[in-house]
Amino acid sequence: MQAIEKFAPGVILHGGDYNPDQWLDRPDILHEDIRFMKEAHINEATLGVFAWSMEEPEEGRYDLDWLEEVVNRLYEHGIRTILATPTGAMPHWLTEKYPEVLKVDEHGTRRMHGQRHNFCPTSPVLRKKMQGINEALSERLGKHPGVIAWHLSNEYGGDADAETFIGCHCPACEDAFRTFLKDRYGTLEDLNRAWWTGFWSNRFTSWDQIHCPGAGSEHTMHGIKLDYRRFVSAQMLDFAKAERDAVRRYSDRPVCTNMMGTFDPLDYFKWARELDFVSVDCYPMWHSQEDDTGIAQGASLYYALTRSLKRMPFLLMESVVSSVNWTPINIIKRPGMHMLSSMQAVASGADSVQYFQFRASRGSSEKFHGAVIGHLNGNDTRVFREVKALGERLEKLSGLVLGTVNRPQAAILYDWENIWAVNDAQALVMPFDFNRRFLDYYGALWDRGIDTDLIDMDSDLAPYRLVLAPFNYMYRKGWTEKVRRFVERGGVFVTTCWSGIVDDSDLCFEKEHPLQDLLGIRPEEVDVSPGYMENTISWGEDSFPVRDLCGVIHTVGADVLAVYGKNYYKGMPALTVHAYGRGKALYAAAEGKQDFVGRLVDEALCEAGLRCPIEVELVHGVTVSCREGDGRRLFFVQNFNNRPTEVVFRKPCRNAESGEKVEGPVLLDPYECRILEERMA
Ligand code: GLA
Ligand code: ZN
Repeated sequence: MQAIEKFAPGVILHGGDYNPDQWLDRPDILHEDIRFMKEAHINEATLGVFAWSMEEPEEGRYDLDWLEEVVNRLYEHGIRTILATPTGAMPHWLTEKYPEVLKVDEHGTRRMHGQRHNFCPTSPVLRKKMQGINEALSERLGKHPGVIAWHLSNEYGGDADAETFIGCHCPACEDAFRTFLKDRYGTLEDLNRAWWTGFWSNRFTSWDQIHCPGAGSEHTMHGIKLDYRRFVSAQMLDFAKAERDAVRRYSDRPVCTNMMGTFDPLDYFKWARELDFVSVDCYPMWHSQEDDTGIAQGASLYYALTRSLKRMPFLLMESVVSSVNWTPINIIKRPGMHMLSSMQAVASGADSVQYFQFRASRGSSEKFHGAVIGHLNGNDTRVFREVKALGERLEKLSGLVLGTVNRPQAAILYDWENIWAVNDAQALVMPFDFNRRFLDYYGALWDRGIDTDLIDMDSDLAPYRLVLAPFNYMYRKGWTEKVRRFVERGGVFVTTCWSGIVDDSDLCFEKEHPLQDLLGIRPEEVDVSPGYMENTISWGEDSFPVRDLCGVIHTVGADVLAVYGKNYYKGMPALTVHAYGRGKALYAAAEGKQDFVGRLVDEALCEAGLRCPIEVELVHGVTVSCREGDGRRLFFVQNFNNRPTEVVFRKPCRNAESGEKVEGPVLLDPYECRILEERMA
């Protein structure tokens, strides 16, 4: 990956969170760890996450000798460090002396010390203390040859106790929210208009009347909630930028933070612009269902989103070698799944496989979380052997994989502001659960071996031939023009009912659908289809059940591809297509289940002239991802079935690892990931 390449040339990183700070009185352990790391082909350690109380035991007294010694020793053994800033958890001296650093919840109550991710991102004292420790780290280690990158804090916003919003409700944050609103609206008059405050007597006559919404106060006014969500993401980002600037003071190492994929409160598209590269933590619940396909699609979506943020390779900053310890049933990975799930990340654009955690702690809440080294048996474990096998494979793959990345020609809209608004709308089905519905679409693309970027409404559509925008409820400024341009030039655009409903203030559009000319339809109302009167979609000879939503629409120029099978709107359009410029726009008025979405995706791919980049007949549970660059294309054929599965390659290919020729029917092992290679002229 470009950003890191300069400091860690030529290696896929393999490593993860490592907490020697918990073992400083055990030199034998530290010694043993390096030996185990070498044996497992681990070449990276993420140090200092949550180490504030060890790095600054008392206010202003920095103790970084131990840390430097660990960095040195790792470096001597060829193991690089990604250095974290420690703000994920605050030391006691800090909250004791300055309680205002603790966050205030939605009921106006200041938190007491405890747990993590519970700071106020606005607090000037916290920012000052953060700057102190971050600059000390930067000065001491920011140019160390072993240090290759910065890891800001940890999973910003990941406050397990937050009720509705992760934001802080203290007076300083309320002031910052008002400033944010003044910047956005200029005048109260404009704000009143945008929030439609005539409703329920909400007209504001002074800025001081505005408070952060939450469970204990306003939680029905859509406009304020939407802006508050924007603010919470932006304010946390503002804190992250202050952290970034502090570590950059003495260091030129690239900066990232460990993101959480589809984490709702933070608009990562906006975050990514402020970071040198992106990384993600991903914990799929493997084996929690009999069939791992849905889990695999969900994990793939996480990775695709992360890659799309910068359209660049990324790091898988955290994953688990076996089971986590925070779900109701914590199942260990079956043999072989660790290899496959790690290769899935690489297939999707990751240039690393990193774990939480290298060594399990002996005490406290995560002592039973999976680790490379657990409490018993050292390296003589199944988990260790699987980690080692992966390490060996990654080492061999480095030369082949680095310098390549997925370059999809299909994109699907994943816009945080749209999701906030659609999930908040009080209509149809509640909770709306955008992500679950979205996965039907993403999953259909995955089933067909189509790599897909996730984009927001600010993204450039030029790289794509197909753009899907399911449940595109909000049209942000500029979006309709962008879509029109895209289709005019030959792109295929697919959208669904419950799209084009509100503008970026969450105010409903009037008169007609904003893309009526492009879609060639006129929506009228949306029905919800409960089980007892389930509707169907008739498409040619086929009939598909409806999931929930039935948009009742009329055509104004579009051709009808499918119609409703029942109800008073029987025979009316359920799916339409409209030629526009050199391209086409499809509108799915009906929300079908997976089989319908699959057929719709087939239709759209065909219209866009897209297909799986390798000639293979895929079957259930098997997908392909493609990374390309430096004159080669790599196809990662992944079998998520726990049984041998046959796929047929219609053209001869070459196994990138063994050099063997692959052609015709091939039996993939359970959980196998086979990597094929094509040289480009
Ligand atoms: C998150 C955190 C880690 C750890 C793991 C456990 O990803 O960043 O500190 O708590 O979860 O799965
Ligand atoms: Zn605050």
